[in-house]
Amino acid sequence: MKIVLIGASGFVGQHLVRALAREGHQCEVLTRSTPRRRGLRLVPGVNLVQADVHDTGGLPSRFEGADAVVSMAGILNEPLFGGDGFEKVHVDLVRGIVTAANAAGVKRILQISAINAGEGRSKYLATKGRAEALLLDSGLDVSIYRPSVIFGPGDSFFNRFAAMLRYLPAMPMVCPDALIQPVYVGDVVRAMCRTLASHGAYGPVMELGGPRVYTLQDLVKWTAKMMARKRWVPGLPDAVSRLQATVMNWVPGRPFSLDNYHSLQLDNVAEPNALPELGIEPVSFQSIVPQYLGLSPRQQKLDQIRRRGRGGR
Ligand SMILES: NC(=O)c1ccc[n+]([C@@H]2O[C@H](COP(=O)([O-])OP(=O)(O)OC[C@H]3O[C@@H](n4cnc5c(N)ncnc54)[C@H](OP(=O)(O)O)[C@@H]3O)[C@@H](O)[C@H]2O)c1
Repeated sequence: MKIVLIGASGFVGQHLVRALAREGHQCEVLTRSTPRRRGLRLVPGVNLVQADVHDTGGLPSRFEGADAVVSMAGILNEPLFGGDGFEKVHVDLVRGIVTAANAAGVKRILQISAINAGEGRSKYLATKGRAEALLLDSGLDVSIYRPSVIFGPGDSFFNRFAAMLRYLPAMPMVCPDALIQPVYVGDVVRAMCRTLASHGAYGPVMELGGPRVYTLQDLVKWTAKMMARKRWVPGLPDAVSRLQATVMNWVPGRPFSLDNYHSLQLDNVAEPNALPELGIEPVSFQSIVPQYLGLSPRQQKLDQIRRRGRGGR
């Protein structure tokens, strides 16, 4: 199949494109900046194309001859000043994709959304929900994937916490009781590949989660333990979490925002989890994360002994 992908140069996309190419599909990845996304250039069967994906007039010609379009552009926070916001990236872009697909005669669209799309007070979730509604009303053959937090090499969840835990002696947790069902990027990709040509046999909306549900605090504590770092990970009360989000909302780069706080008020749990129905047994993060954080159990032990020898913890 010839597949055109938008938003596939990032974490999930890099895994998806490689899997699709391995299955013999021809992938055309539209990106706003090819120099930043050079890694994908080297993958056989993948064509990285610089394109203004927001230029609705230009999209139909990009979709010409495609058997499917994968729509997965997303942002977790809006830029502090200027730049593209949730509405533009999540809704306007998807509207443009639907229009272009109709103009180019493409019938099949795969969309990565999020659990709780359209619910709660978060703009991230609200705009993901509006994109889903646009697609479901489009009359096209649509599959919508709603993963919980995705982990795997290159993720920004475990990698980010690990980076902080390396240097901080304590990590007070905002929204410590938020429920998350971490799902392996390989399983998300497998679900997408498996349903690509399913002709409506599944879905159209599929929630994807890992084998178990954890609190955010449990996940951070596990990361510290796995790294053999003794760290204090106290949970912050809700009022303090909210206050921290309000303050961080104004920090450049927005490491945490009020919108993230609102998202975390809802359980990020797959109900029901579509993976078993697709014949995929979800992989646990405990079996994967130590590999890409570069810490085998033997390495962890040695690391611990070395630090004890230096009088550290
Ligand atoms: N990672 C998770 O845990 C998770 C969980 C649930 C849902 N999701 C959803 O899965 C999708 C992929 O996530 P990811 O983790 O792979 O994200 P990512 O690594 O941040 O990649 C995001 C992609 O979105 C595109 N993009 C970013 N800003 C854009 C803008 N202003 N206009 C147009 N395109 C823009 C980028 O394309 P360029 O090449 O043009 O820069 C990039 O390829 C997103 O829709 C995300 O909401 C992710």
